[in-house]
Amino acid sequence: MEVKPIILLNNSCNFRCCHCYVRNATDETPIDTIIKFFDNIILANNADFVRFAGGEPFLYSHFHELALFLCKMRDKGIDLNFTTNGSCITDSIMNDLQIIQPNMVKVSLLSLRENKYNEIIGSNHKLSDTIMAIEQLMKSFTVGINMTIMKDTICDVEPLIQFCLSNGIKDLFFSQLTPAGRGFVIENKKLSKEEIDYVHTIIDSVDKNKINITYDDGCHCGFYEDFVLNWDGDIFPCSALVSYPEYKIGDCDSTVDEMRKKINELCKTKSKVCFVEDFVKY
Ligand SMILES: C[S@@+](CC[C@H](N)C(=O)[O-])C[C@H]1O[C@@H](n2cnc3c(N)ncnc32)[C@H](O)[C@@H]1O
Ligand code: SF4
Ligand code: SF4
Repeated sequence: MEVKPIILLNNSCNFRCCHCYVRNATDETPIDTIIKFFDNIILANNADFVRFAGGEPFLYSHFHELALFLCKMRDKGIDLNFTTNGSCITDSIMNDLQIIQPNMVKVSLLSLRENKYNEIIGSNHKLSDTIMAIEQLMKSFTVGINMTIMKDTICDVEPLIQFCLSNGIKDLFFSQLTPAGRGFVIENKKLSKEEIDYVHTIIDSVDKNKINITYDDGCHCGFYEDFVLNWDGDIFPCSALVSYPEYKIGDCDSTVDEMRKKINELCKTKSKVCFVEDFVKY
């Protein structure tokens, strides 16, 4: 079975998104831990694609050092992909990204309505500045857009598709609200089955030659494939569980087989597709 590694560089962020599953603090993943994760989990299992997120990954204080290491990993044929809120694209980050040459930088764009955008991100960061950052990134890199769809942003789905089409963005990733962290507090904003079907109808009507649209509607779980490293050096089977130490399945010294055994133990009680809904008892 494939191993899909995800590295969370930190849990700090300049936004306070209403749905965020990360418990905000000031921890950062040490470079040595990242190197160990590459050696023992990524390279040892022939994974050729690594995703980076956080917190906000471009606030990571050792980003330049990380870039120098990642450039060597990319030369070994490993694809590298970053997910960002798009608010911290400084010249220094652009230079480091030039060193890394990621295969994609995904920017989270949660609404195209200014007031709703600010309400969701819990910050007055301007939507127009995020859009300018997207334009800047597009000059050098392949850019994708991420949107977690909630009840009050279903109306943003079509405009976002149009935004991507008119700006030459070829990869759009929609996801379902996961009830973890602050996302648990607004669980009532999760789409119903009918609303999920409606979003699928919109997506199905779009010409697939013009744009790749992926919708993780919570019906397909990556629980056995994702190995998510957090800032404590602990590994979890799902990004939404990284702030819940009781769901740790291992660390950089564990083998993938050992961690899968732990997952099997955790899964004994599962009754839903999105396991978070079973596991995260508040
Ligand atoms: C945790 S953020 C980290 C990277 C970066 N700060 C960002 O916002 O893109 C990664 C992605 O997870 C999404 N996300 C956060 N909490 C979520 C939740 N409870 N359910 C679904 N998606 C969530 C965010 O919208 C973002 O697209
Ligand atoms: S979703 Fe991303 S930008 Fe929003 S608070 Fe969480 S880490 Fe920060
Ligand atoms: S438990 Fe599975 S479906 Fe739910 S958020 Fe995690 S990976 Fe996705």
